[in-house]
Amino acid sequence: MSDKRAQVYAAIDTPDKGRAADMAEQLSGRVDGLKIGMEFFYAHNSVGYAMLAQSGLPIFLDLKLHDIPNTVAQAVRALAPLEPTLLNVHAGGGAAMMQAAADAAGDANDNGLRAPTMLAVTILTSLAEADLHDMGISGTPRDQVLRLAALARANGMGGVVCSAHEIDALRAEMGSDFKLIVPGIRPSGSAAHDQKRVMSPEAAQAAGADILVIGRAISAADDMAASADAIKASLQHSLAEAD
Ligand code: C5P
Repeated sequence: MSDKRAQVYAAIDTPDKGRAADMAEQLSGRVDGLKIGMEFFYAHNSVGYAMLAQSGLPIFLDLKLHDIPNTVAQAVRALAPLEPTLLNVHAGGGAAMMQAAADAAGDANDNGLRAPTMLAVTILTSLAEADLHDMGISGTPRDQVLRLAALARANGMGGVVCSAHEIDALRAEMGSDFKLIVPGIRPSGSAAHDQKRVMSPEAAQAAGADILVIGRAISAADDMAASADAIKASLQHSLAEAD
């Protein structure tokens, strides 16, 4: 059981620059960070990024880099001037690729930049056991997630993005310093949409999540700021209750 409030990062899941700017403005000071993914970044590049960074919120740049070590390291160096708080790669790129990415991130400090915490994506939650078997990977997705998380930790990654249902096992295996970033979060009573396995913010926090990535539960609300406030209040409340 964790004794600190899980952070809430709102997912900017839109290629629409005006809508993204509106979200950042409404959520500034309300959430702990913003998550920017491929759909926004590829459409608006570093200019769009800078616009959202003006909110003053920490940013998780979710680009899931995956290539040979040299290319990924150069990509991390190219992104470093943006100073994202979190940046990720695919663990499937292997040990050398993750270490090269971690080393490149560390170089940012030498260049007077704030280095990102590097995260690994283990197994995409869209892949089931049968999909892994089709790719020649035996065992369950959970086994593979644990194996890749251990490889990630041994090669400079500060944490992983994981499904809520993997938090328990990862926390037990990886210890308390390894960051667990968790999407697929739904406040009790809200729609699951296309997510198959969801968990409430309070349950994910209790299991040991560090950061909850929340999309539609905030972005589809009539009042985004009020929704974010309510989620944070419920997280704080459930911590107090657990004391
Ligand atoms: O709207 P919702 O809360 O489901 O959005 C979740 C966010 O987390 C989206 O940005 C989605 O792409 C991302 N994500 C996910 N599952 C993963 C990894 C990322 O839902 N395994």
